Amino acid sequence: MNTLVQKNSRELPVGFCDSGVGGLSVFAEFKKLMPAENTIYYGDLKNVPYGSKSKSEIIGYLRTILDFFKTKNVKAAVLACNTTSAAAYEELKNNYDFKIYPIIQSSAKILAELNVNKLGVFATSATVKSGAYEREIKKYNPNMQVYTKACPGWVEIVENKTFNTKESTELVKKYFDELMENNPQKIVLGCTHYPFLTGMLSKLADSSLFIDPAMFFVESIKKDLTEKSLDNLSKEEGKEEFYVSANPEQFRVSGELFYHINNLPVLL
Ligand code: DGL
Repeated sequence: MNTLVQKNSRELPVGFCDSGVGGLSVFAEFKKLMPAENTIYYGDLKNVPYGSKSKSEIIGYLRTILDFFKTKNVKAAVLACNTTSAAAYEELKNNYDFKIYPIIQSSAKILAELNVNKLGVFATSATVKSGAYEREIKKYNPNMQVYTKACPGWVEIVENKTFNTKESTELVKKYFDELMENNPQKIVLGCTHYPFLTGMLSKLADSSLFIDPAMFFVESIKKDLTEKSLDNLSKEEGKEEFYVSANPEQFRVSGELFYHINNLPVLL
């Protein structure tokens, strides 16, 4: 690769994707760690929630997003979504000439090294069904007991901002109580929407019980981009573009908790 190509590659954007606002929990951490990167965020609000969809539907959604990123000439794509990492990453990872970073596979080693025997995971139904958390963690620590709990309805609480209603409070408590029957020592928030529920969860247990893998994930991305000489060396803050497949205003309002989006996202 000549110097000119290298310089240009460093300035290309990093694409982030999720079914909705959940990926902003990862995006916000990434922006703190690598502020110079140019970024594109894709929220697939037309198809949210992914967690109740079939594997082939989820592969189709991710293919559409990665094809879009290709037209934007990204240098890397970040699956800021556990469900696509679990149900579609393996199928699509070799179809593009940019690097694809999946949240579950990228965070599994650090989770496997936690000093606990029993690890709980809250996730979407599709993520639980895939068995991805157990499989990826056991690659590094076969002795860790991993208990996954599907939490249908939690993504909708976040997308619709219905925090602290009677129904939402009961639904959060229901899955929390069910997972706690296994006595996990730590619980991974295995869906990028769930860190938005920390306020509700911390009424049920000390917040130190819950682990948001976003920080481990973005650190692994930084390491890889840097090793590949793909990190943007600019001293300026990177440009941001937001795209949604539906409901731009809802995206901006619901996302506000994690990230301030200045302009209305572009509707595709
Ligand atoms: N936030 C995504 C995840 O991490 C998708 C949730 C959904 O749309 O069901 O799994």
